Amino acid sequence: MSSTSAAARVSEVRSLFEKYDVPIPRYTSYPTVPYWEGLSDSSLWLSHVDQSLASPEALWSMYVHVPFCETLCTFCGCNNVISKNHKLEHPYVDHLLQEWNMYLQKVPRLADRTLKHIHLGGGTPTFLSPQSLHRLFSGLFAKTNSNDPNEFEASIEVDPRRTNREHLQVLREFGFNRISMGVQDFEPEVQRLVNRLQPFEITAALTEESRKLGFESVNFDLIYGLAKQTPGSIRRTVEQTLQLRPDRIALYSFALVPWIKPAQRLFKDEDLPAGPGKRELYEIAREMFLAAGYVEVGMDHFALPQDTLARAMQEGTLHRNFMGYTNQRSDLLLALGISGISQTPWSFHQNEKLLPKYETALAEGRIPTHRGHVLTAEDQQRQRQILNLMTKLRAPLLDAQQAAQAADFLRPMIEDGLVEIAPSLRGSDEIRITPQGLPFLRNACAFFDERLKRQKPQLQIFSKSI
Ligand SMILES: C[S@@+](CC[C@H](N)C(=O)[O-])C[C@H]1O[C@@H](n2cnc3c(N)ncnc32)[C@H](O)[C@@H]1O
Ligand code: SF4
Repeated sequence: MSSTSAAARVSEVRSLFEKYDVPIPRYTSYPTVPYWEGLSDSSLWLSHVDQSLASPEALWSMYVHVPFCETLCTFCGCNNVISKNHKLEHPYVDHLLQEWNMYLQKVPRLADRTLKHIHLGGGTPTFLSPQSLHRLFSGLFAKTNSNDPNEFEASIEVDPRRTNREHLQVLREFGFNRISMGVQDFEPEVQRLVNRLQPFEITAALTEESRKLGFESVNFDLIYGLAKQTPGSIRRTVEQTLQLRPDRIALYSFALVPWIKPAQRLFKDEDLPAGPGKRELYEIAREMFLAAGYVEVGMDHFALPQDTLARAMQEGTLHRNFMGYTNQRSDLLLALGISGISQTPWSFHQNEKLLPKYETALAEGRIPTHRGHVLTAEDQQRQRQILNLMTKLRAPLLDAQQAAQAADFLRPMIEDGLVEIAPSLRGSDEIRITPQGLPFLRNACAFFDERLKRQKPQLQIFSKSI
């Protein structure tokens, strides 16, 4: 390519990032949370939980939310409670166990059906002391059935600054085999600006200790688009990441939602990479991960080829849920703890988001329902299509009418070479994301989002797509 045509291509790519950088959902569920309706009643929810386990072969997953963090990282979009008071953990573990026992009493099948996967997220689950974790797992696992230990996956999100050897030992004792570490960025200046000083040595030592103790897989969370990140700084962060060679890497786009997370207002606009400049950070990291032998999974994950996430993508079994990309698909995802989101084939359910409301519901012997959604037949169809596009980068269209609508809605993306509509192997038309289109996957999913098309949110809710 001549230097003029290379320059033209760069400018063309920049203009695409400007054109398509619009607020759009991340599609970890469909319908997306702001459009949920029709499930405020716990009895309907409990009947769905029971029904989802009707088959003796049913498999289920558990998510446990631990909201506490000792300090606030100012970029954070998670549902957390910031406190240095560790006395809070004791009543919280009591409440989690109370909630679990309430489910067991109302849906006795939960004790018989195979628990395939448990995930602890937050906040910071290792805010809990090793003793509290021990008490929590003893209570949760006393009545669960995880038939084949080789098939059982247990994973946890940890903050390396708040995790010690004793935590890891308790986790291993209860069968935890995957650990995900919050890293975000190794550059001291970026860490200072986001209020998260985390020397490389801490992450390196925890990675080494986890491997020694037998964790099969170590994941790092990184974020691009943070304040003062530059092409040079992201290269250094990736080089340091590669020194430790985690099995998986999540490289999240910084979700800027200051109307929900006021601490994000502390960042100066001029410090925040945006649009094409932000995307360039992803592209630099991507190239380095691919050169180091990682496989790109979906739109923001990388994994070593032997890792189960990479294999799931190759075998076409990749899934996506509230936790992002996963190789775990089950008949029920049951969430415990504040703000936890559960899923059955027919519905979504979210727990109370505030600690006092969650505690009051449990004290009154109620399932702590905050809100939920019952899927319509159309929702189920759109959910399948969005999931296909997100995990396989292609989605079959229902009929000629939907193909014509897609051609119309996606015309700009088709003309820009980001999306194709073409016959699938089965004969019917399908939408395909081209290699250049990958950064704009969420924009293409919006075609299937009937609820967003029918009613745009009145307030800004979603972060921008890039
Ligand atoms: C619950 S935290 C991980 C565990 C632990 N609290 C920690 O930070 O080490 C989940 C992950 O969400 C990601 N995250 C949080 N806020 C984000 C935001 N605004 N945009 C993109 N990713 C974000 C971070 O990568 C973080 O590691
Ligand atoms: S990134 Fe992790 S440690 Fe930091 S505030 Fe968010 S949940 Fe807490």
